[in-house]
Amino acid sequence: MLMDADTTHDLEPAVKTIGARLADAMPGARHTPRAAVERRVMGAMVADPELRAAVFRFVDVRPACADPADLARHLGELLAEAQDSPLARRGAALAGGALTRRPLAHAAAAGVRQMAQRFIIGADARAALPGVEKLWRSGAATTIDLLGEATVTEEEADSYAARCEAALLVLHEASQRWDRRPLLEADGAGPIPRVNLSVKVSALTPLLRALAPERGIAGAEPRLRRLLRVARDTGAHLHVDMESFDTREAITELTLRLLGEPEFADGPSAGIVLQAYLTESPEHLDRLLDWAREHPRAHPLTIRLVKGAYWDHETVEAVQHGWPSPVFSERRACDRNFEALSRRIIDARGIRAAIASHNLRSIAHAAAYADARGRDVEFQVLRGLGDDTLAALLAAGRRTRCYAPVGDLVAGMAYLVRRLLENTSNDSFLRAQAEGVDLTTLLEAP
Ligand code: 2OP
Repeated sequence: MLMDADTTHDLEPAVKTIGARLADAMPGARHTPRAAVERRVMGAMVADPELRAAVFRFVDVRPACADPADLARHLGELLAEAQDSPLARRGAALAGGALTRRPLAHAAAAGVRQMAQRFIIGADARAALPGVEKLWRSGAATTIDLLGEATVTEEEADSYAARCEAALLVLHEASQRWDRRPLLEADGAGPIPRVNLSVKVSALTPLLRALAPERGIAGAEPRLRRLLRVARDTGAHLHVDMESFDTREAITELTLRLLGEPEFADGPSAGIVLQAYLTESPEHLDRLLDWAREHPRAHPLTIRLVKGAYWDHETVEAVQHGWPSPVFSERRACDRNFEALSRRIIDARGIRAAIASHNLRSIAHAAAYADARGRDVEFQVLRGLGDDTLAALLAAGRRTRCYAPVGDLVAGMAYLVRRLLENTSNDSFLRAQAEGVDLTTLLEAP
């Protein structure tokens, strides 16, 4: 057993062994025609920084009223235009065919629709049940995310809150019939709820703005309070997602304020997110750990550690405003921070650790550390992106939860674009893995 968190080099052999076993247990890239279409869409994004910028802007310029088919077609055309650039045409010719723009746009739209289907588990909570139950049977827990962030009206926020509430009730009812899964239903800190819902504060109020955090907090507070009550009364877990940096303070303040109230001391089980790409995330963790020490609750606070999904957004914002960027610009520094934060969260008393990553090295490191310290840990992956990782984690008998969005392509466009940007960035682990970088390199200490 490791006694000293600084002696992390002792961990390396275990990290490598666990990482290699997980890699072995991955079903591997599917060479279906469907995967090929998606690869082409992703390929276009990788090759062309201007296209990445255009896709990034697409979320803002698309009117919210477009229907899903319309959206897929527009985004498809955008992707195809770039694929039609001279460079891409040369690439396509090399790949064995002179492609014209129309079939490209068509294929790209199909790729967008397929990707959305892969990520989104159902149009609403009821439609999601078969998928959620299939995951449970396979040994994976879920957290459901109702798509539709960044609301602009009070009505939209009401409707999002109502959908969240309905989802909690539908899942609660259905979950009574699920078979027992001891690994997913308890850890050393006690019972773990079967039902788990992730919520976005930007969907709970149209008033979330960096310059007036108190207005956003006041706007979202009644809706979040109601969801916490429903979660408590149905025995569910409620997880508050983190979003862009300018809303982090308000989201943290609101969540901790409510969870600290006597009304919620006995429940529900709840959690918050720490984004490792933020350079000041270590201080943010200090604050969360201090809060947890000062506010003992019946259910330990879950901290979900993520890299962070708003990298392009943060970088563009910082450049536009002439601010220093809040995120690490260097991948290794970010990965090192992720590992340091993993160790602190896994070690923390009165905290549940959830390590949410598709980076095999980060996962293997957290698993090795938790094993060495004799601590519980949960892994989390995104539906559709982390499927190989999920299969490997399940084969290894690790407690794993799948983040599963519910809704349609219109509500999910921002989510889909985040996935596109993340996975085509230079720093993407999944991209490196897909491009065949060897395992030794993938598992190197950052
Ligand atoms: C997102 O919505 C998964 O919460 C993360 O991008």
